[in-house]
Amino acid sequence: MADTATPNVIRRADYAPPAFLIDTVALEFDLVPERTVVRNTMRVRRNPDASHASNLELMGEQLEFVSATIDGAPFDNAHAHEHGLTLSNVPDHFELTITSICNPAENTTLSGLYVSGGNFFTQCEAEGFRRITYFLDRPDVMATFTVTLRASKADYPVLLSNGNLLEEGDLPDGRHFARWEDPFRKPSYLFALVAGKLVALEERVKSGSGKEKLLQVWVEPHDLDKTRHAMDSLINSIRWDEARFGLELDLDRFMIVAVSDFNMGAMENKGLNIFNTKYVLANPETATDTDFANIEAVVGHEYFHNWTGNRVTCRDWFQLSLKEGLTVFRDQEFSADMAGGATDEAARATKRIEDVRVLRQMQFAEDAGPMAHPVRPESYVEINNFYTMTVYEKGSEVVRMYQTLFGRDGFRKGMDLYFKRHDGQAVTCDDFRHALADANGRDLAQFERWYSQAGTPRVSVRTRYDAAQQRYSVTLAQGYGDAAPAARETQKGPLLIPFAIGLIGKDGSDLSLQLEGETRASDSTTRVLDFTQTEQTFTFVNVAQEPLPSLLRNFSAPVIVEYDYSADQLAFLLAHDSDPFNRWEAGQRLATRELLTLAGRAATGVPLQLDDSVVAAFARVLTDETLSPSFRELALMLPSEAYLAEQMAESNPAAVHAARQFVRKRLANALRKDWLAVYEKHRTPGAYEATPEASGHRALKNLALSYLAELDDPAEAVRLASAQYDAANNMTDRSAALSALLNAAAANGGSIEAQQALDDFYRRFEKEPLVIDKWFALQATQRGSAQRPVIEIVRKLMAHPAFNLKNPNRARSLIFSFCAANPAQFHAEDGSGYAFWADQVIALDAINPQVAARLARSLELWRRFTPTLRDGMRAALEKVASQVKSRDVREIVEKALA
Ligand code: TRP
Ligand code: ZN
Repeated sequence: MADTATPNVIRRADYAPPAFLIDTVALEFDLVPERTVVRNTMRVRRNPDASHASNLELMGEQLEFVSATIDGAPFDNAHAHEHGLTLSNVPDHFELTITSICNPAENTTLSGLYVSGGNFFTQCEAEGFRRITYFLDRPDVMATFTVTLRASKADYPVLLSNGNLLEEGDLPDGRHFARWEDPFRKPSYLFALVAGKLVALEERVKSGSGKEKLLQVWVEPHDLDKTRHAMDSLINSIRWDEARFGLELDLDRFMIVAVSDFNMGAMENKGLNIFNTKYVLANPETATDTDFANIEAVVGHEYFHNWTGNRVTCRDWFQLSLKEGLTVFRDQEFSADMAGGATDEAARATKRIEDVRVLRQMQFAEDAGPMAHPVRPESYVEINNFYTMTVYEKGSEVVRMYQTLFGRDGFRKGMDLYFKRHDGQAVTCDDFRHALADANGRDLAQFERWYSQAGTPRVSVRTRYDAAQQRYSVTLAQGYGDAAPAARETQKGPLLIPFAIGLIGKDGSDLSLQLEGETRASDSTTRVLDFTQTEQTFTFVNVAQEPLPSLLRNFSAPVIVEYDYSADQLAFLLAHDSDPFNRWEAGQRLATRELLTLAGRAATGVPLQLDDSVVAAFARVLTDETLSPSFRELALMLPSEAYLAEQMAESNPAAVHAARQFVRKRLANALRKDWLAVYEKHRTPGAYEATPEASGHRALKNLALSYLAELDDPAEAVRLASAQYDAANNMTDRSAALSALLNAAAANGGSIEAQQALDDFYRRFEKEPLVIDKWFALQATQRGSAQRPVIEIVRKLMAHPAFNLKNPNRARSLIFSFCAANPAQFHAEDGSGYAFWADQVIALDAINPQVAARLARSLELWRRFTPTLRDGMRAALEKVASQVKSRDVREIVEKALA
């Protein structure tokens, strides 16, 4: 990484334990929007395990220092500065009280204490607590917290903080108070408070050991009708963690609060999770099936953090994946179990495919650019920039590999040992690996490289069949290809790759597997090979016919597999592989290969054509009634434009778009009757049901509609979509219909039906911010046309009264959707997209650096594009680099330009 160009680099190698520890914290808040007074009383002592320091250095930002006392007496040796408070020559142990003032009303960063919709909220991870009070704001300082909140009773009738409510009551002058105590020691990043006009859906449930628990989902009063699904998801999460990991809820009360101004998805504050409204509020009229699934996943994720993150936390922020990778893995398994139980492999595969698609499209891209970093980074400038796809999604794959190596039971044994050893501690990724290794009696030293090496590994496969000897040898070779410089410097040696493989016979069924040296074939027809060397050959014996290999089943490791399948072989795998993930994978490989060939032709102006055999392979999936609708939908969805552009030697979004549209049109026209039949067959009349089956039908039906909208004559699709829009009793069908109308209209520069539906959608949902976000996003991601470039529509929408740059969801719905999810329009040759991007990054930088830095990342792969686009992107990056103020955005653009 370009450390030398960037000041203030924090390095993992520089970790040192804190010179002081804080055992207890008593916080008192007088909550006033423009001027909140915070009194913070701490018991402080020297850390016996650290070297001596005479000064106590507390972190603090954007605080007005008022006073400090030590053991009740005024302390004059306190010096407030830009980064905090220095207390000189302090005793070995003492009680320290600090009073300071902050301004939540003016806090647009949404980090620390802020006001949203007239209510108070906090966000402390990673380093927001220092914006509330002076503190040792680092995760290895753990204390028990008592919190007293005082505020106007009329304006802030509800006062919440972590843990258990000790007492509440009235105060003079229309004020009231509440006092909370969290019995568990925690780092400051898990602190939270909420105050305002909120109401709760409540449930009482008994946990595994029979204790009664109060569960609450707090929202603004008009949203109470959208809380049921979040509550059900919470109850399911509690049950699941008990059943799968033996982990029980440790508090008497567990609260979720929804807030509409929020930087990310949600936050796992102890006992008081704070959520983006997007991941709480849902009813069939306002939320899509995807929204329902996301809410279940995020509610699960935050709840599971109670053990993986809160009871056992991170020693330092380089260990972030210790909690995030593990917790993503847990939420993925939760969702898979909810969809398919432990045994319905086809239903589980649906979830797996969706997760892998995200990993490949987003994390592989991250690993190929200037922000490439290991799952456990070596350095950072701004930690908020490292809440990344690598830490979360690749981190989850790394955890999944332990389970692939040891099985579910072995993984559980490792988790049990991890909690036995580390409950109540702040630990490292190494501690986790050691627990897994020790519980399973295995040396995992080599596995450490998954934490320290960046870049996406490539495994190339060669096979050889010896008919006379009935031997089939599989040679695996691993490397990183020509990795990005940021990744290359971390790469030291081969990884331990659990490589799952099956062999498929001529009739499409699995062959039994016996490796050389084994006395008999194993029971399972999938084998996980321990692939540990740069190159390694595995030989199967008693192989009576030449098999077709099914490689990396269920995506057993986060790698790219290179193997020279013929198109016929891929079509065969698509039809027969017993591993549902690899069935999908075969279709994707087939489509990717065709699409990249076509994109190459489009880039050079050669006419496009598509082989009938590809159409036939898709037709078979479309009409195969033995496959579940949700699987068919996934298999028939072409790889995204972003993923395809990534695979080109020089990314050319226009050529990718032309190729993909060509194939979509070809599939639409060639299979018109089948699409229509599928559309009719998978309608879900009657009351809305949120089950996986019903949502699978809707997904397939709406995919059919989107293909029909590509027909040369879209009249029929427009009729169907309009009728679907008008009749819809749920948001999945309504938004899919609107999207089909917009895209069918693109070729003609717009249509009356599309405009009418857009207007109706706005009027109908004017009072539902999350739905208006969809209204913006649908327009920002629409196809557009030469007569009607989307940038013009986006520019106009920026001036819409409902647009608000300060609200991250709204900014994402319009700006991010356009810059990151509409590549063909964003990467216009005239550079209009890049100019827009630069203006918005700069504007956001002054409001909310965390959000600005996310947007800044949408140009980081600029070097991989065609020369014209590259020049335009570089100019835009340089403009931003010359104007931004925040450390967050600076780190991103400097790394991109380095
Ligand atoms: N720890 C949170 C999660 O993954 C994410 C998070 C980190 C976050 N920093 C944040 C959320 C800032 C909101 C704002 O569950
Ligand atoms: Zn998390």
